[in-house]
Order: sequence, then C-alpha cells, then structure tokens
Amino acid sequence: MATDVFAALLLVIAIIVIYITKYNSQQWKIFSNCHTIPSTKQRQTTVVESTGLVHTTLKPFQLPTLKPRTSSHMAMGLKRLEESNWLTIDKGYHSEHVLRAYMLENARPDVLQCLPNTEAACHEVLDLVTSFLSKRFPECFTINHSTSTIFNHLTKESHLIGAQCSNPMEVAARLAMEDFNILVKDPQSGEYTLMASATLFPAGWQLQERIGTSMANLHSPVPRWQEKLGSAVNRYFDHLSPRTCMERYNLFIQTTNELFQDGPEAPPPLAVLLTAENITVRRERQTFTRLEQSGGVLFTVRTYMQPLIELGAEESEGLLSQIRGWDGEMQRYKGWDHWGTVVEQWCERQISQQRKDLYIVEDATLRERKLSV
Ligand SMILES: *[C@@H]1O[C@H](CO)[C@@H](O)[C@H](O)[C@H]1NC(C)=O
Ligand SMILES: *[C@@H]1O[C@H](CO)[C@@H](O)[C@H](O)[C@H]1NC(C)=O
Repeated sequence: MATDVFAALLLVIAIIVIYITKYNSQQWKIFSNCHTIPSTKQRQTTVVESTGLVHTTLKPFQLPTLKPRTSSHMAMGLKRLEESNWLTIDKGYHSEHVLRAYMLENARPDVLQCLPNTEAACHEVLDLVTSFLSKRFPECFTINHSTSTIFNHLTKESHLIGAQCSNPMEVAARLAMEDFNILVKDPQSGEYTLMASATLFPAGWQLQERIGTSMANLHSPVPRWQEKLGSAVNRYFDHLSPRTCMERYNLFIQTTNELFQDGPEAPPPLAVLLTAENITVRRERQTFTRLEQSGGVLFTVRTYMQPLIELGAEESEGLLSQIRGWDGEMQRYKGWDHWGTVVEQWCERQISQQRKDLYIVEDATLRERKLSV
C-alpha cells in the first residue's frame, strides 16, 4: 500500500519534472530566438511579388491619402522626412525604368543636364543614392567595392560608381524612381540656381529652358510664387542641413497619363469627349536635403500617377477640397478649364454615393433594432 502511494508520488513528481524541463526549454528557445532577431540581415527577408519585384520587410512607403486642405494660404507645406523613406521602390519600378532608359537614350538633353563645375556635387548625389539603395533595399542593389560597381538585381544591370563613373546623375536616375535636382546658391544674387538635373518626369516644364536659372525663374509660371514663397524658400534652403531632410507634396490633374509632360497640357480636341476615365491625378513627392561635401541642395521628385476613377469617396472629398482651394489664377495655371467640371462632378457623385450607402446601412440597422424590440 505504502509502496503504491510512493510509486504514484514518484510518477507525479516525474511528470512535473518533465513538464517543467520542457516548458523551460521552450521558454529558453523563445528567449534565445530573441537574441537572433535584431540582425538586420535576418529582418530584411525578401518577398517576391507576382511582378517579380523584390521587397524587404521594412515598412514600404505608402503615398498618404489625399486629405482636405487645412489652410487657405499658399505655403511650402514641408514636414520632416522619415529617413528610411528617402528614396522609394515599388511595383511601378519596371515599367518606369524602361521609360526612363528610353528617354535617356532618345531625348537625353530634355531629361539630363549637368552644367560645368557640378561634377563633385553629381558624384556626391550618386554616392548618397547608391549607399541608401543598397542599405535600404539590399535584395535589389548590391555594391561591389573591389570593382566599384553597383548591381541592380531588378534589371540585372551593372553600373560603374565612384570616381570612374562618367555620368553619375544618369546612373542615379536609372537606379532610382526619383528625379534629382541640384541647386547651388549664387554668391552674387544669393538666389538658388538649378545647376544639374535628371528630370525624367517633368510636370509641365522644360529642363533645357530651366537649367542654369534661379528658383524664382523655375517657379515663374506659378501664380504669385515669388512674392508669397520666394524669400521663405531661400531662407529655408540657407538653413537646410544634411541631417534635416524634409518632404512636401504637389498635386496636378492631367487629362492623359503621360509621365513625361514637358509643357502645359494642350486642350483636348473639341470633338472628343473628356470623361472621368481620361483623368489622372498626378502627385509629386519632393524631398530636400543638403549635400554635405559640395554644399548644394539636393531636391528629389517622385511622381505618382493615379486614375481619378480609382479614388474612393474619402480621397475624392480630399481632392475636391484641394482643387477648390486654389484661387482663380492658380486654377487656370493648373488647367482647370480643361478638366474642372469633369473632376468636380465625378468627386461629388462619389461623395453623395457614399452618403447614400451610409444612409441605407443606418436605415437597415434601425429596422433590425425595431424588429428585435
Ligand atoms: C566583386 O567582383 C569581383 C570581380 O568580378 C568578384 O571576384 C568578387 O567576388 C565580387 N565581390 C562581391 C562582394 O561580390
Ligand atoms: C478619353 O478616353 C476615351 C477612351 O479611352 C478616348 O476614346 C477619348 O479620346 C479620350 N478623350 C480625350 C479628350 O482624351
């Protein structure tokens, strides 16, 4: 009898010991896993999308939703940039890369201009671009220091970098989805001047006309830019440091989906009806930073094209508020006469449709509640 109890007791103890050891070893395993997580190499595992594009698991950049405008006055609208999102790679990469290569080969002077004495600044830009891309998207770009090359895994292309590279702005523009502009302060006038640029996707202006001219001239078509923003922008650039990288957004409406738009849009032929399906919302994400070594200002532009008909009710409301916030002169400059009515009507329909849907849902819940009472 006593031995039975003793045996049972032993069994219970054995089970407890086994359980504790197992539990502890699991705990230990979990704990030891924690120690291996912080290595960036492991964090950045790859996900290959159906498009063949490689992504790291770092949070990809998301274009913010269109919001109603908050103030009526013209402002730079700058905000501090999240550093890991300085340059972006997304599923539009392949098609845009092909277009960029085509423009560089067939319309080179229209998309690439580097004035004399900008070599150091252009090389500095390429250094920043290659080191950022290879760190942020290590599955897409690999630098080989012994050969001074960068390999683009997305396109299987290799480019010379560093001192041997003879066309640094072109290489930067081929690697990234952004356009690059270098502004240098003119010591005489104190004005910032566009000295080098790889602008593959201009929004209504010509690079050959703008290269070598001041910010004021760059913005001369923008109504009241000089009086409202000119001196603020100069002051802002004076205080920009390599550690303060800022971003802002610009909005345009187009009646085509052309990324290369080097002049104001031609009015659509009278005989052709323009519908919401023809309209593209063009948004620019601009970033500004100081080039530490050469001293210039680096201004990047990433262009996003979104068909109007893909905007939901919330973004339609944001868009409507923004375009209605432009005064008459600004609306004319942005081409309102061509697309204003079509865009307004489409956005209003989206918004009222959503209200109707909400009303139906509310109505149904109300009826359900009445039935259950
Ligand atoms: C760099 O390129 C050389 C020559 O092609 C090659 O032997 C070497 O393995 C490469 N290094 C890396 C880190 O890929
Ligand atoms: C609008 O799109 C339709 C269908 O794609 C096309 O036939 C028409 O020419 C376009 N209108 C304009 C003004 O571009």
